[in-house]
Amino acid sequence: MSTIRDKTTGFATRAIHIGNRSDLETGAVTPPIHLSSTFEQEGVGVNKGYDYSRAVNPTRDRLERNLAELEGGQRAFAFSSGMAAINALLQCLRAGDHVIVSRNVYGGTHRLITQVFHRLPITFDFLDLSDLGILDSHLRDTTRLVMIETPTNPLLEVLDIAAIAERTRSRNLWLAVDNTFMSPYGQRPLEWGADIVIQSSTKLLGGHSDVIGGALITSDEELIEKIGMIQKSAGAIPSPFDCWLLLRSTKTLALRVQRQADNALHIARWCQQSGKITRTIYPGLDSHPQFELASRQQRTPEGNPVYGSVLSVDLGSVKQRDRFLSRIGIFTLAESLGGVESLISNPFVMTHGSIPREEKEAMGLTESLVRLSVGIEDIRDLIEDLEQALN
Ligand SMILES: Cc1ncc(COP(=O)(O)O)c(C=O)c1O
Repeated sequence: MSTIRDKTTGFATRAIHIGNRSDLETGAVTPPIHLSSTFEQEGVGVNKGYDYSRAVNPTRDRLERNLAELEGGQRAFAFSSGMAAINALLQCLRAGDHVIVSRNVYGGTHRLITQVFHRLPITFDFLDLSDLGILDSHLRDTTRLVMIETPTNPLLEVLDIAAIAERTRSRNLWLAVDNTFMSPYGQRPLEWGADIVIQSSTKLLGGHSDVIGGALITSDEELIEKIGMIQKSAGAIPSPFDCWLLLRSTKTLALRVQRQADNALHIARWCQQSGKITRTIYPGLDSHPQFELASRQQRTPEGNPVYGSVLSVDLGSVKQRDRFLSRIGIFTLAESLGGVESLISNPFVMTHGSIPREEKEAMGLTESLVRLSVGIEDIRDLIEDLEQALN
């Protein structure tokens, strides 16, 4: 174990071994799932580190160690969904706090803030944080948290984590980065100065579209204490079976995410030169306004640029969109992203359905835009599928 703890051990090796040590009792190479809700005590208050599974569970423990290691944080906390993780983070706030959120965040995050947290005495500003001047001019004495998503969903705007962290650090604020679109294989926000990472493990971490989960990862002592208390007290924890599925999934994270990103880059280049698509948005295209930033910030653990598995294409009209979606075969029309199977969605109506039309239009989210989550299928089959749907 000591060599695996060593930071020079590669990402893929750590993904497979941290949290997955053979079972001490039986030698099982794949550790068992601990379904038990409660644990025998040797005497009153004397136990083996586990008492009740809402508070702590051996399988969740192993998953949390694995996720902390991959994101480079001291502690990870697993939740029953990405939204439960974001909810727990927002519960760390106090009355009177002000929060800055990057515009274009996931529709569910927007809904949680505008429909649930708006009842509390906490103020939120949704801002275009690609302009650091806007951030500077909106910081207040009461600002406690800056929460960003990069790349954004579904317009794939890339925000400069290091530049934003420089500002939040100098004012002693928390910077939270939703890293769902890249996973720790493609981007490690804590290394750029963020204080906390959010993951919807439903996406790339899970990778097989068969589990809903979330996580928060941090090295900040105050956040560790607060989130630990919220996780235990509010109890939005994943089941041991879901934790085990996620532990199995992160073993192949590096392979899957690299292949998905390779396929996505190939498709983005193909779409751009097809002449049938009004606009192709992918941070790996040199036409993308933040291509250089993405190339610097989104890197594999070996240091190679990687641009993610999601791209968006504008088909020009709703009629074209519907024609295309009715003909597409391998890409499945469904919400979500990050799985080994390719999915396609219309964010305007689906993931961002709860955001008012004017807000969507203001951010450039059109009805004819479709988002592709690229899987690990053979690239020639994916291209053929797109070609026949467009022709
Ligand atoms: C960027 C991002 N963050 C958070 C979430 C919420 O995660 P979950 O669906 O696991 O609650 C999603 C879901 O699509 C997402 O795309």
